[in-house]
Amino acid sequence: PFRQRLLVVANRLPVSAVRRGKESWSLEISAGGLVSALLDEHLQSFTNSFIKFKVDELRAKCVKEFEARWIGWAGVNVPDEAGQRALTKALAEKRCIPVFLDEEIVHQYYNGYCNNILWPLFHYLGLPQEDRLATTRSFQSQFAAYVKANEMFAAVVNQHYQEGDVVWCHDYHLMFLPKCLKEHNSDMKVGWFLHTPFPSSEIHRTLPSRSKLLHAVLAADLVGFHTYDYARHFVSACTRILGLEGTPEGVEDQGRLTRVAAFPIGIDSDRFIRALEFPLVREHIRELKETFADRKVMLGVDRLDMIKGIPQKILAFEKFLEENPTWHDKVVLLQIAVPTRTDVPEYQKLTSQVHEIVGRINGRFGTLTADRSLDFPALCALYAVTDVALVTSLRDGMNLVSYEFVACQDAKKGVLILSEFAGAAQSLGAGAILVNPWNITEVATSIGTALNMSAEEREKRHRLNFAHVTTHTAQEWAETFVSELNDTVVEAQQRT
Ligand code: UDP
Ligand code: G6P
Repeated sequence: PFRQRLLVVANRLPVSAVRRGKESWSLEISAGGLVSALLDEHLQSFTNSFIKFKVDELRAKCVKEFEARWIGWAGVNVPDEAGQRALTKALAEKRCIPVFLDEEIVHQYYNGYCNNILWPLFHYLGLPQEDRLATTRSFQSQFAAYVKANEMFAAVVNQHYQEGDVVWCHDYHLMFLPKCLKEHNSDMKVGWFLHTPFPSSEIHRTLPSRSKLLHAVLAADLVGFHTYDYARHFVSACTRILGLEGTPEGVEDQGRLTRVAAFPIGIDSDRFIRALEFPLVREHIRELKETFADRKVMLGVDRLDMIKGIPQKILAFEKFLEENPTWHDKVVLLQIAVPTRTDVPEYQKLTSQVHEIVGRINGRFGTLTADRSLDFPALCALYAVTDVALVTSLRDGMNLVSYEFVACQDAKKGVLILSEFAGAAQSLGAGAILVNPWNITEVATSIGTALNMSAEEREKRHRLNFAHVTTHTAQEWAETFVSELNDTVVEAQQRT
């Protein structure tokens, strides 16, 4: 059967490489929402390296599958040719194709422009402010490196592209990629999806390279966001900053339409539900239940990132315990804080800030914080034994942790406290307790409400969320995006 080829291009490959010798590499699964959503269980378990998305069955009338390849950075600097050759070969077995970025580019493009400028700006944290002059000067060279890195990704795509392929570009790292690709080959089917929020046009306006970035994205045939709000913000930015025409379909520039739409992501819920039956996971669950037999468990799982509101969460927990002394020995907060982007100074500052707060509170109440990532069985077990999950993102594109928690709670029916500033608030709002994470008093009160909630109320709320999480999956998300991209291209051809 015909299988359409799909090139998935993202800064980070689903596997990160660790060097074991001159020509020997081992591969590990990377962390983060983008990778989780696009990864299928075969790659997760490393038994099969294909990433397969089933296409819309109704329309295709028979099950077609995409033959997908990943193009991206393996997370390491590989200066020598022998090493590059060996790594390329190791990755090929996983259907992954590396883009080699040298240290200087990683510093300027990844640590600099992507994670010090675009990431905080898109999450409403503003542009870096200290030492304005230095920031302005490095801004120029970081932006140049950003464009150059995007050209390097484009070169690898062009090398592997075959006529008819769908090219799906991901996230804020690769906003220039659609333009690079289309300039080289205007027939290429190019989609771009943003995994973060797209901020209000008033925020985007502050970015020195605001127009160039918008134009570059508009070169794509289809542009997707998690929520309708983000899509609207993007269209407003194009109309207000570029003076283009926004239509219900997208953005028009001299008769050419770029489709803009919302495609809320989901998770592979079955993978989590099935995992709860694995002997290893059941063993973990048993141990956790024993350890916390006389306590309610509250859980946070986040990359150690400014946008996750980790300090706010811990302070709210402290306030709750101060005001509710009867709960002192009856509840524990487990906070998994996965180290991330550790070469960026703002992340280093956050790490010490969190350590400081945790140190102070631990002396009084005993919170448990782990600065490490968990493997899949351990994570599932934690989700399953949790009474109350706390997601306090100050802004978050979607937040898959909240989905994963819900998927693992069909036995326990615990409560989700969820920030109204996470994209997930729009889909899990009916079952969760929504909070403004900046309002520590409100979060503390919600912790009390969650811990004291009746079984009937918990059951009712869980049902709503569980129904959503199990019916809006990552597979459907990918299928919908790609079939929409195919349709968009056909419609455009019909117009001309
Ligand atoms: N995750 C992980 N390792 C961990 C803890 C979490 O890979 O130790 C995964 C988690 O299961 C989830 C993803 O990282 O799928 C985080 O996605 P989310 O959308 O919540 O936030 P992001 O990190 O993308 O900002
Ligand atoms: C978020 C971003 C992803 C990124 C992930 C992990 O989910 O949207 O693009 O891969 O965080 O961050 P990292 O910088 O380690 O790739």
